[in-house]
Amino acid sequence: MNEQTTIDRTQREYSAAAKKALERSPQLYINGEWVDSSGGETIDVEDPSSGKIVSKIVEASDKDVDRAVAAARTAFDDGRWRNMPPVARQKIMTKLADLIEEHADELAELEAIDVGKPKGMAGAIDVPGAAAHIRFCAGWAGKINGETMNPYSMPGETMFAYTLKEPVGVCAQIVPWNFPLLMACLKIAPALAAGCTTILKPAEQTSLTALRLADLVHEAGIPAGVVNIITGYGHTGGDRMVKHPDVDKVAFTGSTEIGKLINRNVTDTLKHITLELGGKSPVVVMPDVDIQETAPGVSQAIFFNSGQVCVAGSRLYAHKSVFDEVVEGMANTAEFWAPRPSLDPDAHMGPLVSKEQHERVMGYIDAGKRDGASVLMGGDAPSSDGGYYVNPTILTDVNPQMSVVREEIFGPVVVAQRFEDLDEVVKDANDTQYGLAAGVWTKDASAAHRIASKLQAGTVWVNCHAMIDVAVPFGGFKESGVGREQGREGIEAYLETKSVIMKL
Ligand code: NAI
Ligand code: MG
Repeated sequence: MNEQTTIDRTQREYSAAAKKALERSPQLYINGEWVDSSGGETIDVEDPSSGKIVSKIVEASDKDVDRAVAAARTAFDDGRWRNMPPVARQKIMTKLADLIEEHADELAELEAIDVGKPKGMAGAIDVPGAAAHIRFCAGWAGKINGETMNPYSMPGETMFAYTLKEPVGVCAQIVPWNFPLLMACLKIAPALAAGCTTILKPAEQTSLTALRLADLVHEAGIPAGVVNIITGYGHTGGDRMVKHPDVDKVAFTGSTEIGKLINRNVTDTLKHITLELGGKSPVVVMPDVDIQETAPGVSQAIFFNSGQVCVAGSRLYAHKSVFDEVVEGMANTAEFWAPRPSLDPDAHMGPLVSKEQHERVMGYIDAGKRDGASVLMGGDAPSSDGGYYVNPTILTDVNPQMSVVREEIFGPVVVAQRFEDLDEVVKDANDTQYGLAAGVWTKDASAAHRIASKLQAGTVWVNCHAMIDVAVPFGGFKESGVGREQGREGIEAYLETKSVIMKL
């Protein structure tokens, strides 16, 4: 891979708009205002393409969290949002979606600087996706209805029953660093449609776009206290949000480890909870596929966003009759996916988000090598001047006991295995604690349906991967999560059902 050694991995110059955002003094958005932290602690913001510190954000104190929760509580209890006519809430949310689109270029650049993802990818996926979540949910604001029932064991003329759908209340929403703006909007959108209020905490590594989102929330006219955006660490600020007695619902996306901890931490107050956690998603390639289409497709399934995707197709199972051609076709994509700085217009893959993540991923690759895996492509980090780059990596000669096969790596690393028999591959694909997503590549529609029904996963893709749409429910089986986000189910996750039974 000589091409990769000649890539210039110097991060490009930031735009004036991005510089302005980076120069802001660290503050929190609480009760419709930018406020200083009560504590004065800050967290460095790093550009993973260069390893340079480019800004600072607040590390929220306990007092800051309490202040944000109090603002959300008051804004919920006095009905300033939930009692607004749905048409007005829809209009404000639509305005927010419009504003996100108007600031698309700046938001994509900030995401690129903060996460390390190519600006082109952020502009094509993250920002339009963020706006789509808000827009889709805006439409739900006016379509949330209960039902009337005919009581079963009571006389019909004298008894009447109906349900009311009410917002669950104050939400604590905690998101990770891989799709910061998209995840922030995915979280606040259904909450707003349902009439809830929220405290959103982006990940400590990537808070820039959530802070800009707060400006847009303000400009759109969302009333004070309805959306509060605070920055800080998970084990302190995040933990306090989760345990706070005035919070009614927790929505979390992140690691399975922290998801389990949060699930335990909400038990004492029995809050509503949705958890969207990790994965080790299998991709099954059947013997009848078109290699020209499938090899780039299954490469994208793992290398998109440097593999830092909860649904990454990280376990490839290709039928033995096509295995060699598939992995060779994947190896041919090495140049396309060669990691570059996030603001390089030719970048399809950037660095990993942080030094910690770089060490983690390289640790897995080394463990795989020690365990006897062969490196078909990559397996190393390219030279750079401080950035956290890892070359796209394909490991073969692996077995189900290896950590690279069992554990979520969250990097551009795929383990490729051969299979012969369909029952056997389904069994292997399901042999995991996770159940977030899976993929099947085949021209045989019957085979696709049969395999889809047998895979233990919240989402199954056929001849594509990571195609996530706000209209379609998303969530995990097994240890990949609790509940569903997106679609109608995603709105329902922010609603309580109240039954009213009346004697006439
Ligand atoms: P994490 O799960 O620790 O962090 C995600 C979010 O949770 C962040 O906003 C963090 O501040 C918050 N958090 C952490 N501890 C918390 C606590 N005790 N209470 C409340 N909030 C808390 O993920 P991390 O450490 O950034 O990454 C570790 C691994 O997790 C990755 O290598 C990857 O395997 C996995 N991960 C999975 C994601 C997914 O989308 N499924 C996203 C990010 C990470
Ligand atoms: Mg963590």
